[in-house]
Amino acid sequence: MLSITICVGSSCSVHGSEELAMALEDLIAKSNLAARIELVGAFCMEQCSTGVSIRVGNKGYRGIQVQDAEAFFNSEVLPLAQGEEAS
Ligand code: FES
Repeated sequence: MLSITICVGSSCSVHGSEELAMALEDLIAKSNLAARIELVGAFCMEQCSTGVSIRVGNKGYRGIQVQDAEAFFNSEVLPLAQGEEAS
């Protein structure tokens, strides 16, 4: 199971963590990966910036914008989720 951790701390919330979580949830459902990816929330990851902090597996990202959700999902999440599928 691949974990996506989304920061819901105050800075990230202001920058749209809830919308980003919903967008990712949607993309996961559309890709039929709901059984392989879990979305979890986390408090401030101490990476506050002008976007949302996210961790995919053990790799951290910061400054992710809601409008980047699909590109982020396709480039960072899908390869890992599909890698898990192969193993
Ligand atoms: S509130 Fe998200 S990293 Fe600080």
